[in-house]
Amino acid sequence: MSADPVTVASPTGVLVAGAQEQGAIPIVPAGDEACGYEYSYADLFTERLRAAGQAISTVQVPLPPEYIHMAPEELDARIYRAKSLLGDRLFILGHHYQRDEIIKFADARGDSFKLSQLAAARPTASHLVFCGVHFMAESADILSGADQQVILPNLSAGCSMADMASTDDVLACWDQLTSELGDDHGIIPVTYMNSAAALKAFCGHHGGIVCTSSNARSVLNWAFERGRRVLFFPDQHLGRNTALAMGIPIEEMALWTPGAYLGGQALDAIERSRVILWRGHCSVHGRFRPEQITAARSSDPNVNIIVHPECPREVVDRADYVGSTEYIIKVVTEAPEGTSWAVGTEIHLVNRLQSELPGKRVVCLDPVVCPCSTMYRVHPAYLAWALDNLVSGNVVNRIQVDETVAQWARIALDRMLSVP
Ligand code: 13P
Ligand code: SF4
Repeated sequence: MSADPVTVASPTGVLVAGAQEQGAIPIVPAGDEACGYEYSYADLFTERLRAAGQAISTVQVPLPPEYIHMAPEELDARIYRAKSLLGDRLFILGHHYQRDEIIKFADARGDSFKLSQLAAARPTASHLVFCGVHFMAESADILSGADQQVILPNLSAGCSMADMASTDDVLACWDQLTSELGDDHGIIPVTYMNSAAALKAFCGHHGGIVCTSSNARSVLNWAFERGRRVLFFPDQHLGRNTALAMGIPIEEMALWTPGAYLGGQALDAIERSRVILWRGHCSVHGRFRPEQITAARSSDPNVNIIVHPECPREVVDRADYVGSTEYIIKVVTEAPEGTSWAVGTEIHLVNRLQSELPGKRVVCLDPVVCPCSTMYRVHPAYLAWALDNLVSGNVVNRIQVDETVAQWARIALDRMLSVP
């Protein structure tokens, strides 16, 4: 992460950041009075979030042709060579959904949050190469030290769910909700880990919090201790499934369609709601269907169905077990030999579980392959290219979160860490 000072120059003033709690950051006016409009701190912060949201680069420069045509053995040899030359200065992180040709090089495997924590706990590693998607690399940058640099081997590896909540759309939603509901709106914004850094910062700034699929319920309890209602983004399914499991009736949830005024809802539906769910979903987990559970049970009456909470409600309701990626791995790994599992999550993880647990039957709940196509963009050619550059002293594809955005995002992440 950048070690830049946290003083932010703007066209209209100077924002002096550094205090840790909301409201404690003063504005030092810088001669803006002449235009007859004084920016408030909120205006400046919003501009900063917008700029950070727009600055996300997903444009990958074309690989030099030699990498495109390189044989798999040569790519492997390059990666092994770079790993041995860079030694402890390099730490390669591999998300569980990553392809095997990449995972075999990972120094650590995990979900996005666990990987960010592992990266932060590796201060000797000046270069953290994150084989995952964009929001994961951002989180690693936010949580790692000032002298660590995070690299995403292919910048086009984004997350379709994270992209469903743009900073501008969330800011517009907040403006509409707070102006229609008034000062006493009582809304706590909660963002899933799978979101842009600017949205984590938005939550930090507005008394909100981040959650993961492992702690969503505890985080929602935290939010309801502080507000009357929750705005949950970007995954409607994780929000709905968690709220239902907490006993909140579906009638007290409203689905917010970005781009439509009041999310396409009548004001009384918003006023009634305890949970406002963003209309976003994961393109991998959103594919699972109840009919697949029926088919799995009829072909094997002893099968256990285990699914991720990003799956739709009808799937979660019919499953035997529901939980995060780490939970799925733990349950299937610890299950007795000879048991049978149909798993509702990403195919690379399911196939790896089957090959690492040959004494059990582990299949994907969806018979049609469902990879995370953006994660898949981290091909060994990109990893070899990024590492060869590091060996030559060039840092390519660095993911660097704006320092003010990172500060506020860290506040939202720290709140999550404080939740028991
Ligand atoms: P977890 O790994 O936190 O369960 O999230 C799943 C996912 O979709 C990651 O992108
Ligand atoms: Fe995003 Fe879904 Fe891929 Fe996870 S699995 S990175 S939520 S598209």
